Amino acid sequence: MTIVVKIDRENIDEAIMIELSHIIKNNGTVVFPTETVYGLGANALSDIAVAKIFAAKGRPSDNPLIVHISNIEQLDRIVEIIPEKAKVLMDKFWPGPLTLLFKKKAVISDMITGGLDTVAVRMPSSKIALKLIEICDLPLVGPSANISGKPSPTTAEHVIKDLDGKVDAIIDGGDCEFGMESTVIDVLNETPMILRPGSITLEEIAEAINTVIYDPAMMHNTIIAKSPGQKYIHYAPKGEVYLYIGEADDIANAINQAAARFIDESNKVMILGTEENILNYKEGIILNLGSRTNPMEISSNLFSMLRKADELKADIILVEGVEEEGLGVAIMNRLKKASGGRIINCGDSA
Ligand code: TXA
Ligand code: MG
Repeated sequence: MTIVVKIDRENIDEAIMIELSHIIKNNGTVVFPTETVYGLGANALSDIAVAKIFAAKGRPSDNPLIVHISNIEQLDRIVEIIPEKAKVLMDKFWPGPLTLLFKKKAVISDMITGGLDTVAVRMPSSKIALKLIEICDLPLVGPSANISGKPSPTTAEHVIKDLDGKVDAIIDGGDCEFGMESTVIDVLNETPMILRPGSITLEEIAEAINTVIYDPAMMHNTIIAKSPGQKYIHYAPKGEVYLYIGEADDIANAINQAAARFIDESNKVMILGTEENILNYKEGIILNLGSRTNPMEISSNLFSMLRKADELKADIILVEGVEEEGLGVAIMNRLKKASGGRIINCGDSA
């Protein structure tokens, strides 16, 4: 059975948190909110606990887990060294949505890293997450608390839908602030590389360490990705997602034509449009992702709306692409995965 407990992030009930820490210490699983998405937590130092995470999510064993910490002493327990560039980034972005790779110590098992000699670590800024880790005084593995392949959960309701009956406890701490996962960065090489774009942008990171690039594999699916999670189809609702790229006007025209055609063929169509275009859409279930001038708004709505498609049993989901810069890179990375390659370039077809 799964216990669901509401916790007020501004007034955390210490007694309940202690109860939850007992579950973790006894190798159980507790879902906790973070500022990005909900995480599925377990003791990172116990193989028994870590195995439960893979089982609950149905996650492939070669996709490594992020370890969450609440202080630097915990980091020293699990990693060999802290490179200079990592220190700079930790100073600027921790606690917060940046995940860094480190050379792992032996206490971190191959089960967590998928056999890699590096471990991905982040210190979340969510007060509830920090409190849980602090009380447990253990590093916690914490993949997104969704069934593998589904969009990451940004509300407790999303988690309950995916994991009720599969985990010991779920902390309902309200909506996640960012709604997009952390950025994963590798600073162990000469040139620091973003392996997964996320809530912290390349531009923000470049301000701190000058040189940083995207993993070329992230942009071109043909090259082997260094972040194993990048190779899987992900974030996908049950219906078919079509992603439209190009000028905003051309996109709206192309989506309207496609919607009419799919509806003619008796499909239930959902349109995820931007605020600027939303009044141009005529048919189908129309949802407003947010303004093109506010990528933060779009990124925080995205997973929730992809999940809406399943709730409303949409057969076809037509989505507006956004400009690939800043947070737009992370948004487009998730949408491309959700589309499984069904990408329509409106510039070409118009
Ligand atoms: O915001 C987040 O990062 C959320 C919250 C809960 O903290 N967690 C999350 O975890 O998104 P998960 O497991 O869904 O995604 C972890 C990503 C995967 O793409 C995985 O392949 C990559 O991090 N990763 C983990 N360890 C790695 C490693 N040693 N080397 C390269 N990539 C790694
Ligand atoms: Mg995930």
